[in-house]
Formats: sequence, C-alpha cells, structure tokens
Amino acid sequence: MSITGHTKLVGVMGWPVSHTLSPPMQNAALRHGGIDAAYVPLAVEPDRITDAVRGLRALGYVGSNVTIPHKQAVFALMDTLTAEAEVIGAVNTIRVEEDGSLTGHNTDCLGAVRAVETDGTLVRGRTVLVIGAGGAGRGVAAGAAFAGADRIVILNRTPEKAQAVAEELGQRITLDPSLEWYAGGLDEKPPIPWEDIDVVFQMTSVGMRATPGLPLDPGVFRPGCHVLEGIYAPLETEFFRKARAKGLQVTGGLEMLMEQGAASFAFWFGQEPNKDVMRQALRDAVRSREEEG
Ligand code: ATR
Repeated sequence: MSITGHTKLVGVMGWPVSHTLSPPMQNAALRHGGIDAAYVPLAVEPDRITDAVRGLRALGYVGSNVTIPHKQAVFALMDTLTAEAEVIGAVNTIRVEEDGSLTGHNTDCLGAVRAVETDGTLVRGRTVLVIGAGGAGRGVAAGAAFAGADRIVILNRTPEKAQAVAEELGQRITLDPSLEWYAGGLDEKPPIPWEDIDVVFQMTSVGMRATPGLPLDPGVFRPGCHVLEGIYAPLETEFFRKARAKGLQVTGGLEMLMEQGAASFAFWFGQEPNKDVMRQALRDAVRSREEEG
C-alpha cells in the first residue's frame, strides 16, 4: 500500500491496542476494494479519550473503530447514535460526517447474527440461546432481538446478571411486542427445554487460552441446532470441537470478528468489502500470532 497526500485515514482506538487484529483485516479489504485509505491503530489512554475523539474531526479522519476500554465513554461523546448503539449503550464504530458531526454505531451486536446467517441459519423467528451476560453477551442478545428472534434465552454463571440483562433489553427493545425473554443460571434447569433452541451464541470467556474449559456441555443441544463460538483464539475451543463432534453446525469466532469489521467498513465507505479477503487476512494474523506464542 502506498500512502500519498490523498490517502484517507481510519483508526481503531484502544488501550492497549497492540492486540487488535483489525488493521490487517481492514487494510486487506481497502487494498482489494481499490480505496485510497489506511487503517491505523491509535493507542489512547483512558483519560485522553475525549481529546482523541475530537481529534478525529480535526485530523479529517473518515472514522474509527473503538475497542476496550473506550466503548462506553465514546457513547457519551457522539452527536448522533444508530438504534443499535443507543440500545447497547456502547459504540464500536465512529463515522465523521461531512459537517464534522460524529455518528456512533455498534457493529459488534450484529456481527454474531450475520455470522450465523451467512452460514445458512436465519435468526428471524428462531429461539436463540445466549451464553454469557457480560458486555459481549448483552450486545449479541440485542443483535438477536434486532434480527427478529422469537425467543431469547440468556444463561449466565451468575443468574442475576442474566436476569438483569434480559429485563433491561426487554424494556428497551420494543420493535416486536411478541418477543419473549428468558434468563437463568448455567447450573440450573433451563427456563425452556434444550430441544427448543435453534441457535446458540457462546459469549463467555470460557475456552480462551487463559481460561480453558466449557461453559456448558454442547451435548444438550438437538441435532440441527446452529452454534456460534464467540472466541477466536484458539481458533477451535473445546466447546467448538465438542459441538462439531456432536454433528451440530458450528461457526467460529473469527466469522463474528470479520462480520463486525465488514459492517464497520460498509458504514464508513458506503460499499461492501470483500469478505473472503477479510477472512483470509484475519486467519493469517491469528496464525502468525499463535506461532509467536
Ligand atoms: P465481555 O465483555 O467479553 O463479555 P465480561 O463482561 O467480563 O466480558 O463477561 C465475561 C462473561 O464470561 C460473563 O458472562 C461471565 O460470567 P459472570 O457474569 O458470572 O462473571 C462469563 N464467565 C467468565 N468466567 C466464567 C467461568 N469460569 N464460567 C462460566 N462463565 C464465566
């Protein structure tokens, strides 16, 4: 890629930001799309986030992604919010408009839904299970509601958190009055039978290298159920392998990461990126990181 006086800039703000896999993915898509822009990491200390966001406008950036720990702080700094960002209370994508105003969007929430939909399962009308009630679980539960799920069950190690998220989202997302919300604990009898579940989103941190194990045995799900593992490092978690061994349809966390990135790209540039190019760049980045140890 050659950077000239015309090259536009997009960033990703985080602290730390060195772990991000988005630059290789987004730059590969920009190159492939023939767009004269570069995607750069922006290490922003938490107490400088307001200045950094203002700086996007001053520096003429197209926009930026936002990652941990800034997603909530940035939410409060936007001029306009999309419906997704508004409901979730967090922004992972900023777009600088022509008049210099800032629009905040959240593509994390639909990334997981798009990943299973691209793999052949529409979420509309389905019974969805979200495992985990942290930031990721909450976002994906909102995404499933936006996508038109019929019933959403949230199960969490700490059942009170699942209950609180289900109640709050149930009150805030009122698009479909017939949508039913359920909540419970991972060790309890589920609030609806396991056989009723069509799509599962695994959004806990269990299965990462530092925290191996299983949040829930995927053996409980019926054949035909579609499982998305939210973790992408390792590329195949124990949950992923067990679900696949049981014959369930399984989508890996890399697809979710790719879909949120593709949605951000489309939000900035008004055109769809090439997803195969993004996927391949992500795979290469994860593999080279795994080789580095
Ligand atoms: P994120 O923003 O990635 O969702 P988080 O907000 O810290 O991160 O949430 C982590 C999720 O993983 C939570 O649902 C957490 O369950 P608790 O709410 O009970 O803490 C879940 N989690 C973490 N460690 C777990 C474990 N050992 N077993 C089951 N769930 C676990």
